[in-house]
Amino acid sequence: MPEYKLKFKDLNKSPFALGYDDARIVSRHCKFLANEVDITSSLSDKIKLKQPFLSAAMDTVTESAMAIQMALNGGLGVIHKSLSPEQQVLEVKKVKRFESGFILDPLTVKPEDSIAKVVEIKNSLGYKSIPVTDDGKPNGKLVGMISDKDYSILKHDKTLVANRMTPLGELLTAPFGISLNEANDALLESKKGKLLLIDKQGYLRAMVTRTDIEKNNEYPLATKDKHKHLCVGAAIGGPGLDIDKRVPLLVENGTDVLFIDTAQAHSEGVRSAVKYLKDHLSSYPEVGWVVGNIDNTESAEFVFSTLEAQCAKVGIGPGSICTTANVTGAGIPQLTAVYECAQVARQYNGKIIADGGFGDDTGNIVKAFLAGADAIMSGSFFAGTEECPVVDKTKYRGMSSLDALLKGGSSRYYQENLKKEDLVVQGIEKKVEYKGPVSRQITKLANALKFSMAIHCGCKTIGELHSSGTEFVIKYRKPQNAR
Ligand code: XMP
Repeated sequence: MPEYKLKFKDLNKSPFALGYDDARIVSRHCKFLANEVDITSSLSDKIKLKQPFLSAAMDTVTESAMAIQMALNGGLGVIHKSLSPEQQVLEVKKVKRFESGFILDPLTVKPEDSIAKVVEIKNSLGYKSIPVTDDGKPNGKLVGMISDKDYSILKHDKTLVANRMTPLGELLTAPFGISLNEANDALLESKKGKLLLIDKQGYLRAMVTRTDIEKNNEYPLATKDKHKHLCVGAAIGGPGLDIDKRVPLLVENGTDVLFIDTAQAHSEGVRSAVKYLKDHLSSYPEVGWVVGNIDNTESAEFVFSTLEAQCAKVGIGPGSICTTANVTGAGIPQLTAVYECAQVARQYNGKIIADGGFGDDTGNIVKAFLAGADAIMSGSFFAGTEECPVVDKTKYRGMSSLDALLKGGSSRYYQENLKKEDLVVQGIEKKVEYKGPVSRQITKLANALKFSMAIHCGCKTIGELHSSGTEFVIKYRKPQNAR
């Protein structure tokens, strides 16, 4: 075999460390089409993804709106941590409550609450109909329901809920204990939007909504927990100042995966964060955790062997908004980094997320999977979409850009408590094109990945990509900024 041609699974034979752009896939015999490809993957035995794409924990990319769409479309969103613990938890809650079979702890109000409170809930969480219980608690005695058709924002803000709500007798109710199918049938037969499940004493035990049923049908790939709630990830600090406050709040409120989000995880700070997590999560066995970021064999040994991580995120400096390589000189080119870390991960039954550096090229994602990734994380693919948490959707910035550092991003870079002029800035802000709804981007990614797997790699699954004999050629790239 010529020296410029190698199998992805033999990438260690390359004389150079390679970035995505340095390699091109050598097409293989095509025996089936993209519709036969299955891109299901997993981050651990706890989290399966039908489309293995994660949106980055960045303040211009992932809050609840993004995380909801990522999960509905088979991926996962990771809520960034430049929010107070309380704000971050609020974003998590919005995802967990978004879609479900039975909503077991519906948001409720009491008859003595004002319509202003109902309007506030509608504006912050988007709920148009809220059950009313005698004491305002989620499992209190059901007395009615207040929906946006029952009041006028202009006229009734000081009026009490009791005076405007639809009373119990006019609501669609069923005994708690019926199956989800029976509940769905009852709703679909009725003209109502909500079915309220009550026990024999009349206490509210659950709610099923018509929109949820419709959404369930629309999103067969959705990433859900065992209660049929959407899954969500949340970033936490490495050697974080507030990990002991953030983690309990996040897990109590249903976060499925915690991401120790640091720029370099081969560190004592991360060791102590993992120790804290292991202690705390012993009472939450269903919650997963991921460590990042790493980029070489030694750091992979540290996270998988020493820290016993099940999943790690790979990427130091490849991101489209990163200047880490320029500023610090660090960062293994990403194709090699993914390969090295995946080789170690396999020995410990661990998983790898390839984080960043894809640019706008879906082909780079295929290369990441061929090098051993189990999932990919991106900021740039999802930046510029409707679900981004910024007013100007075209704004995308690194979490180590000056503004982001000042607004709370500094712990990822081990720089909390530094003065503005002392900060080591390792990221930029840039404009990206407006891309419309993120679901379009996810579909584009999935289609391109499946197409390349079938037509160029001859692989039907992500597992086959890892072990296939797919080859690449090392492409000559004129050195840029050579010194
Ligand atoms: P993309 O290529 O999708 O990369 O824009 C997103 C990933 O980049 C990381 N990240 C940064 N890295 N400086 C860095 O060196 C930064 O300011 C920065 N902000 C984000 C992060 O891992 C993200 O998922």
